[in-house]
Amino acid sequence: MRIMILGAAGMIGRKLALRIAEAGTLAGKPVGAMLLVDRITPQPVPAPFSVETKAADITDPGALVALAGWRPDVVFHLAAIVSGEAEADFERGYAVNLDATRHLLDALKGADCRPRLVFTSSLAVYGVPLPDVVPDDFNLTPRSSYGAQKAIGELLVADYSRKGYVDGISLRLPTIVVRPGAPNRAASSFLSGIIREPLNGIAAAVPVKRSMRTWIASPSIAIESLVHAAGLTAEQAASARALTGRGISVTVEEMIDALRAVAGPTIAARIHDEPDPAIERIVASWPQAFAADAATRLGFPVDGGMKAIIEAYIAEELGGTIAA
Ligand SMILES: NC(=O)c1ccc[n+]([C@@H]2O[C@H](COP(=O)([O-])OP(=O)(O)OC[C@H]3O[C@@H](n4cnc5c(N)ncnc54)[C@H](O)[C@@H]3O)[C@@H](O)[C@H]2O)c1
Repeated sequence: MRIMILGAAGMIGRKLALRIAEAGTLAGKPVGAMLLVDRITPQPVPAPFSVETKAADITDPGALVALAGWRPDVVFHLAAIVSGEAEADFERGYAVNLDATRHLLDALKGADCRPRLVFTSSLAVYGVPLPDVVPDDFNLTPRSSYGAQKAIGELLVADYSRKGYVDGISLRLPTIVVRPGAPNRAASSFLSGIIREPLNGIAAAVPVKRSMRTWIASPSIAIESLVHAAGLTAEQAASARALTGRGISVTVEEMIDALRAVAGPTIAARIHDEPDPAIERIVASWPQAFAADAATRLGFPVDGGMKAIIEAYIAEELGGTIAA
């Protein structure tokens, strides 16, 4: 099996590459080769099979034709710019998040290799007003360019799949918490920051009301969900070309309570309120919870709760040690 990851230098892409390399198999089949692609050359990963790394800009249709010529069996299309950046730079957002997706689909069609394509979509495809629990068949009315680009990408993946050019599935990932590393330009960045920074000995601000509720998943559940999507049968994928990933619904207060329970009151005391009207306006339109019936029916994994997410972050990213 030949696997290509676009966006392999990103947070999810890197973890996914390591996960597949460690397993040596995907969807129950041995991996023969993996091609890791990003705008900057991704780090290689140690693997019991051949791993190539390549710098390519997905806004270049010619580069996508060359990549499709590698004839992958599975493509993970994770390359994108985040919500804040896509909103600030309209042209670049459409070029990377939409036009490149169309060009990728055309390149794969041209290569006639009909791969399983796993496309990372987002909850930003939904807009207000939303019910407290959003059902799978709820209308897509995005309120951001990023959300519109992801929603159109989902339709393209579904239509190229209907025609048999790819066998695609779009997975709307919950907000990933705890995201390791530095804050990014996503409006959701603080949701990871309020756990990550105190655990690293740094103060963290809550820019919204603590009663704000949101839908999150850990990095490892996001990775396992992508792996699961790659392993669905053709019939299962056809039954849900676009679906919302399983997550847990938590308030900011519940997240802080879980941090206090896992790491103690001194660490939780590093969090303070610092209202930011711009972020409050954005998060007011965010979904609070999803039914995620299709993902549940198809056996996608789910986190065991906020405390388990924090414990996993401490074990995986901090080597089990918390800054005093
Ligand atoms: N992290 C989340 O909370 C979350 C939630 C929902 C959906 N997603 C989606 O999941 C995917 C991965 O997210 P992430 O958190 O790893 O993001 P990330 O920003 O860490 O990684 C994205 C990668 O895409 C690459 N990229 C951007 N433009 C490119 C271009 N023109 N050519 C080649 N590569 C390019 C970047 O260099 C980066 O390495 C994205 O599609 C994102 O929209 C993420």
